Amino acid sequence: MAYKIPRGTQDILPGDSEKWQWIETIAKETCKAYQYREIRTPMFEHTDLFTRGVGESTDIVQKEMYTFDDRKGRSLTLRPEGTASVARAFVENKLYANPVQPTKLYYIGPMFRYERPQTGRYRQFYQFGIEAIGINDPAIDAEVISLALSIYKKAGLKNIKLVINSLGDKDSRAAHKEALIRHFEPRIDEFCGDCQKRLHTNPLRILDCKQDRDHELMGTAPSIQDYLNEESKEYFNKLLTYLSDLDIPYTVDPNLVRGLDYYNHTAFEIMSDAEGFGAITTLAGGGRYNGLVEEVGGPEAPGIGFAMSIERLLAALDAEQIEPPVTNETDCFIAALGDKARDAAVRLLAQLRAEGISSEIDYENKKLKGQFKAAERRSAKFIAILGENELNEQKINVKDTETGEQLEIKLDEFVRFMKANITGA
Ligand code: HAM
Repeated sequence: MAYKIPRGTQDILPGDSEKWQWIETIAKETCKAYQYREIRTPMFEHTDLFTRGVGESTDIVQKEMYTFDDRKGRSLTLRPEGTASVARAFVENKLYANPVQPTKLYYIGPMFRYERPQTGRYRQFYQFGIEAIGINDPAIDAEVISLALSIYKKAGLKNIKLVINSLGDKDSRAAHKEALIRHFEPRIDEFCGDCQKRLHTNPLRILDCKQDRDHELMGTAPSIQDYLNEESKEYFNKLLTYLSDLDIPYTVDPNLVRGLDYYNHTAFEIMSDAEGFGAITTLAGGGRYNGLVEEVGGPEAPGIGFAMSIERLLAALDAEQIEPPVTNETDCFIAALGDKARDAAVRLLAQLRAEGISSEIDYENKKLKGQFKAAERRSAKFIAILGENELNEQKINVKDTETGEQLEIKLDEFVRFMKANITGA
C-alpha cells in the first residue's frame, strides 16, 4: 500500500525548507526590532473558542473547520487561525495585568482550513502573524501595517500594494448593516444561497461574494465610509496620516470586507500585483478587533494584528523571480584512504562540527575518485585528503575547490586552519 499525502497539504523538502527558514528568520528579526515576542499556543482548541471568536456566520466556522470529538466526547478544532487563540491566552494567562501595554505577540505555525485547494490555498498552511493587544491608538495600527510591509520588503518583493478600509465602531457598523439589508432585501432572491442566508446575519459578507460579484446591486451598495461616525472617521484619518508620514502608499477600498467577524475600525490586506501571480492575490490580511477579548471572557482590551501565509510569500517571490539567498554548501569534505586514516577522519570530523564547520565524510567505502565526486556533489568548499602517509607524517592535504590551491597543513593545526578560512576567526 503506497500512501499519499492528504489533499491540500505539502511536504516541505530540503532545498525548500531553507527558504522557509530564511523567511522565518526575516519575520523573527523584524519582530525583534518592533518589540513583538513569540507566543506558542496549541494546535487545537475547544471548538467554542472559534465559533464565538471568529464568528458563527463566517465561512471558516460554517464550512472550513476540522472539528472532532476527543475520547471523552469534547469537541475540539484544529486552529483555523491564530487571533482567537492569542486572545484566549491573553485572558487565561492574565497578560492584561502586565503594566507594559500593549501586549505585543507574534506566532508562526500551521493553521487548518477545509477549503478547496488551489495554487496559494491549502488545507494546512503556515501563518506568521502578530497581535498588539491592550491599547487603542492609530499609531499601533500604523505600526502593525508597517511591520507587515517591511517583511515583504526585506524578502525583496517590489510589486505589493496595501488596501485599507475602516469598518467603523459598533454603532457605525450597525447603521451600515441596516442600510445593506435595506439595499439587498428587495432583490435578495437573485443572489446565491449563501448570500440569502447572510442577509440578516452578516450582510457585509455579501459584498465579498465571488459568485454574485457582478450583480448590479453590488456596485451601488451603501458604503461604510458614509456611515462612519465622527469618532471612527477621526481614528481612520489619523491612521492614514501616520501611513503617509511613514511613506507607506495605500489605497482606500470601501468594499474591503474581511472574512472574520471580529473586525472593526481598521481592516487591511496586502496584495501582490506581480504579473503572473495566480488568481489569489492576497498575501496578508488583518485588522482591529476591539471587543474580541471581552467576547472570549476577558476585560476590555482592544487589539489589532495581521497574518500572512509563508506559502503565499514564497509564491509571490516566485512570481517576481526572486531566488531566496539560501545554499546548503558543505564547508569541508574529508576524503580518507585506508582504515587508520578513516578513523582519524571520524575524529577530525567531530572536531570540525564542534566548531560549527559543516563537514562530511564518505560512509560508503568509496575509492578516492568516488570521494572526490561525493565532495563535488555537495559543493564542498574544501576537500581535505588524509591517507596513511599523511597520517604517519601528521599532515593533511587541503584543497580549496574554488581556487584549486592545495596546501599541506599540520594535522594539529587543521581545525584552526579550517575555522580561519570558513568563519574568519
Ligand atoms: P485571514 O485573512 O483569514 O486572516 O488569513 C490571513 C492570511 O493567511 C491570508 O492573507 C493568507 O496569506 C493566509 N491564508 C489564509 N487561508 C489560507 C489558505 N487556505 N492557504 C494559504 N494561505 C492562507 C486571519 O487569519 C486573521 N487571524 C488575521 C489577523 C490577525 N487579524 C488580526 N490579527
